[in-house]
Amino acid sequence: MILGQELYDADGRMLICKHTQLTEENIAFIAFLGIPGVYIDDEFSEEIQIQEIIEPEVYKAAVQIIRRVFVYSLNEEMDSEEAALREKVQQIVKVVLAREEVLYNLINIKSYDCYTYFHSVNVAILSAILGAKLHLSEEELIDLTTAGFLHDVGKVFVDPDIINAPRKLTPEERGMMMDHPRLGYDFLVTHYHFNEEVLQAVYQHHEWYNGHGYPRRFAAREISLLARILKVADVYDAMTGRRSYHEPYLPSDVLEYIMGRNGMEFDPEVVGLMIEDFCVYPVGCEVQLSDGRHGVVVQNHKGTIMRPTIKLLDSEEHLNLTDDRSTWNITITKLLM
Ligand SMILES: [Fe+2]
Repeated sequence: MILGQELYDADGRMLICKHTQLTEENIAFIAFLGIPGVYIDDEFSEEIQIQEIIEPEVYKAAVQIIRRVFVYSLNEEMDSEEAALREKVQQIVKVVLAREEVLYNLINIKSYDCYTYFHSVNVAILSAILGAKLHLSEEELIDLTTAGFLHDVGKVFVDPDIINAPRKLTPEERGMMMDHPRLGYDFLVTHYHFNEEVLQAVYQHHEWYNGHGYPRRFAAREISLLARILKVADVYDAMTGRRSYHEPYLPSDVLEYIMGRNGMEFDPEVVGLMIEDFCVYPVGCEVQLSDGRHGVVVQNHKGTIMRPTIKLLDSEEHLNLTDDRSTWNITITKLLM
């Protein structure tokens, strides 16, 4: 098997490069890292183009900046980190604004290690995409992306044993955990120069649309729009990522979860965008169909993200689950990663 995409570690170092012929050792190593699947190049996948949302170099650099902000959050190099962060935010916003894509393949902003740093970058990118689709101004997108990078910085001040506890937290521990938005806000106010929009988005990113979130129990439009976008991006990325207390959920399952809590935990306007425009069965992934056949996703369709076009593994026939009437009784039952 030939690897179809580069594989990186948490520090942004390339582990295995594209076009490598995978050995038994490589495959065992990939499994050891907990990566559930990789793209493979073969004759069958020739027509399938995997699209990157953000250049791997930009992504890696962003992860490293966030890592420094979190790890060295209290040293005197703070200002240079702030400048580096602002530069990276502008780069990402520029890329997102320049792209005409109607559909985004979210699996490509997924990583499986070193949770907080990657999660911060993923949330920043996903929020920027959602914000652009909501036609936010460039200035608002910069605030939103900055808040995405920094939303969980308050966790630096919470005991890691509580953050990573693979069990139900005690009420006291839960209280400490729920303090991280305020801790993040206070830390940023004291040490950085971000504007109030960024600070409020960080402070409010755990508020629920129905007023049952924290820390202030704000509801609907009392919650800043940037925080309502962050909330969806945060939950999406947290659930599709590996945590100490759960294995990654499939994107399709997470989208169902988000749809089920539409108007309760999440802003319906933001959820509506996700349902329209985000591929939960990314191009290049193998799926199992309800009639037992297997295929690879070759194309997604705007507005019907649960029903992409599939190339069958046995016959190589294309099934368009959206337009082809003969396929309307077929559903995708599993994403095989
Ligand atoms: Fe958080």
